[in-house]
Amino acid sequence: MFDHLSSLPADPILGLLATYRADDNPRKIDLGVGVYKDEAGHTPVLQAVKEAETRLLRSEETKAYVGPAGTPGFNSAMQELVLGAGHPALVGNRVRSAQTPGGCGALRVLAEFANRAKEHATIWVSDPTWANHVPLLGNAGLQIKSYPYYDRATSSLKFDEMVETLKNVGEGELVLFHACCHNPCGADLSREQWQVLAEMAQRQGFTPFIDMAYQGFGDSLDADAYGLRLMAESVPEMLVAASCSKNFGLYRERVGMAMAIYRDADAADRGQSQMLNVVRGNYSMPPNHGGAIVESILTDAGLRANWEAELTEMRERINSLRSGLVDSLEKAGAVGDFHFIQQQKGMFSFLGITPEQVQKLQQDYSIYMVDSSRISIAGLSQSNMAYFCESVAEVLES
Ligand code: LMR
Repeated sequence: MFDHLSSLPADPILGLLATYRADDNPRKIDLGVGVYKDEAGHTPVLQAVKEAETRLLRSEETKAYVGPAGTPGFNSAMQELVLGAGHPALVGNRVRSAQTPGGCGALRVLAEFANRAKEHATIWVSDPTWANHVPLLGNAGLQIKSYPYYDRATSSLKFDEMVETLKNVGEGELVLFHACCHNPCGADLSREQWQVLAEMAQRQGFTPFIDMAYQGFGDSLDADAYGLRLMAESVPEMLVAASCSKNFGLYRERVGMAMAIYRDADAADRGQSQMLNVVRGNYSMPPNHGGAIVESILTDAGLRANWEAELTEMRERINSLRSGLVDSLEKAGAVGDFHFIQQQKGMFSFLGITPEQVQKLQQDYSIYMVDSSRISIAGLSQSNMAYFCESVAEVLES
């Protein structure tokens, strides 16, 4: 039965990790997968998470099933984190959600849910978008088309072309937006641009589908949700996939939320019954541990304050690495203007070099990044910055 199966190449992002681990060069640098690292190159468990785990260990009384949606406490706390307390969609009782295994679980559940509402509906994704969007959405049955987003030549947004492409998108079609910290390019929409897109969604009737994987990594928890909240005020229906991997540092625990906003409370109840049926037919229900940590942090003032401080520290470190990188590339004499890196947000930017140059950096210098030249900024540090920038300068000259 399985004899005819051919082997597939490793995942373009996750595959790098295995090659990096096998490299014995002491100067090796991992700028591949989007995982936050501190100055020492570690991905720490946040103190707020440790404290929440300690409390949970003491207070947990049962391991009985929770159910396909996860706990009500998790869902309401996450809905408020994403939409902001008192958002009209919450007040109108039009929001329903389910805890999912990571942001990927949320994307997949929402894609299957959308496909039930309209089989093989078209979803428009940015060019470029996160590589895993394509299988997560496409394998659920949605038809993927792309809209122009990032101009590699100028390292800036192609907003006019994006609007031109989306102006004919209408009811029954979905448009995927990255809420903040665009993965892979780091170039985000301005508030004015969100306004234009929200008006288009309202006028044309397409359904926004927002991927919120990095809330808190751009400017702040609230500022990063600006576009999402505006969109949710402008349209009757919307989907949101939220991830707790990065902002809570809960990567391997797999915590996320699939959220839908409906026209009214009655549609919301019917929609939620479908969403939970999708979950039941996939993985039945989410694991509890990660969701319980998030719930306990978001519902305890002290833990929440500690978590927000730790999140601020991660964000500020990345932002200072961004300016440090621009300065160091200049100092190393790297050919080109890299100032755009300082304007961009979140974990990633494209360095803007060719796939051959990316390969050379890997083979000759043990510096690992995705072929597109996407770098995960947090993999840089004071101690490897000079080596990285000098290597890039040499490769650009060769
Ligand atoms: C990334 O883009 O590196 C992260 O979102 C991790 C992943 O699963 O690809």
